Amino acid sequence: MFRSVEYYAGDPILGLMDKFSADPNPNKVNLGIGIYYDEEGVLPVLDCVKTAEERIADPISARPYLPMAGLPGHRSACQNLLFGKNAQVLTDGRVATIATLGGSGALKVGAEFIHQWFPQSKYYVSDPTWSNHIAIFEGCDVEVGTYPYYDKASSSIKFDEMIGFFETLNKQDIVLLHPCCHNPTGMDLTKAQWDKVLEVIKQRELIPFMDIAYQGFGEDMDSDAYAIRKAVDMDLILFVSNSYSKNLSLYGERVGGLSVVCPTVEETERVFGQLNFIVRRIYTSPPSHGGRVVDIVMNDDALYQQWVSEVYGMRDRIKAMRLKLKSVLESKLPERSFDYITRQNGMFSFTGLTVEQIEQLQTEFGIYMVSNSRMCVAGLNVNNIDYVANAMVKVLKD
Ligand code: LMR
Repeated sequence: MFRSVEYYAGDPILGLMDKFSADPNPNKVNLGIGIYYDEEGVLPVLDCVKTAEERIADPISARPYLPMAGLPGHRSACQNLLFGKNAQVLTDGRVATIATLGGSGALKVGAEFIHQWFPQSKYYVSDPTWSNHIAIFEGCDVEVGTYPYYDKASSSIKFDEMIGFFETLNKQDIVLLHPCCHNPTGMDLTKAQWDKVLEVIKQRELIPFMDIAYQGFGEDMDSDAYAIRKAVDMDLILFVSNSYSKNLSLYGERVGGLSVVCPTVEETERVFGQLNFIVRRIYTSPPSHGGRVVDIVMNDDALYQQWVSEVYGMRDRIKAMRLKLKSVLESKLPERSFDYITRQNGMFSFTGLTVEQIEQLQTEFGIYMVSNSRMCVAGLNVNNIDYVANAMVKVLKD
């Protein structure tokens, strides 16, 4: 009956996590999945989240279904964070936002919407990108292509090629963009480069789909949203998926949002209705717990400020690890340049190690990185960084 069902080879990132968990090596280091671990190698519960949890801790409260779009306070939290509190586009009522099951859930609902309402549009992702950017859209029968983005040889962005490619695209083609902390390369556009990209998008009447999963881990909350806010200033229509997995350290709660910036209030209402309908057809409504935490933290001034400083603490620790890794590697391999490590932003560093070198790190040292050479710098700490640096030196020399 099921003999024609294909085997699933497993996910390149989640599968690595399972392999890491099963590894008996006492020195093993997980630099695969994009998860922030603290200086002790522990997955943190943020203090602002602890306070929110205490406020929720009410064992007798009723558990009704949430609205299809999620809690109003979760939705407004997404809007304020992405577009800026009191942004004109929000007071105009031109943003349709729903709470989603993490960033992946936002991408899925967005992909379903595009499949149904923009069936002629092709969808382009950066080469390389996060594997789920491709899988989710292909799973919704949207045709997926890639645009030039990263040059491995020079560890830099192929900006002119990217612009040249966008100039060949058709009206209403979709381009998936990472507003900050590009996954997997860590290489972001400058503000001037964003201006140019958005100009071409406007000229060609393309549709930007911005996926922001690391807001606050690049420069700061506002600078990391530069591309989103600039696109709004330029009157572009825009999809934005956002995730609270990393910046609220709420990975398992699956909290995120999907926002669509529309030209008019009337169109916003239509889009909002269809987003609700898509949710109803897939899972009816989101679960309540994570949404309540987001609502409490983001809508209480003191907790919000506490949250921002906790995110900046994580950001700064990752930056310190980048500096340290670069300096150890440079001292041991002075003939090579490791500048790229500190030019990259967010959790990831694209190391340029070969598949064989990555394999050797895993089997010989128990150090896990994604096979495309992506290292999660947020898994480094003072206790393991020398071990990792020495192992990298060994495989680079072998
Ligand atoms: C990652 O890129 O490692 C994270 O976004 C986790 C995931 O779901 O792949």
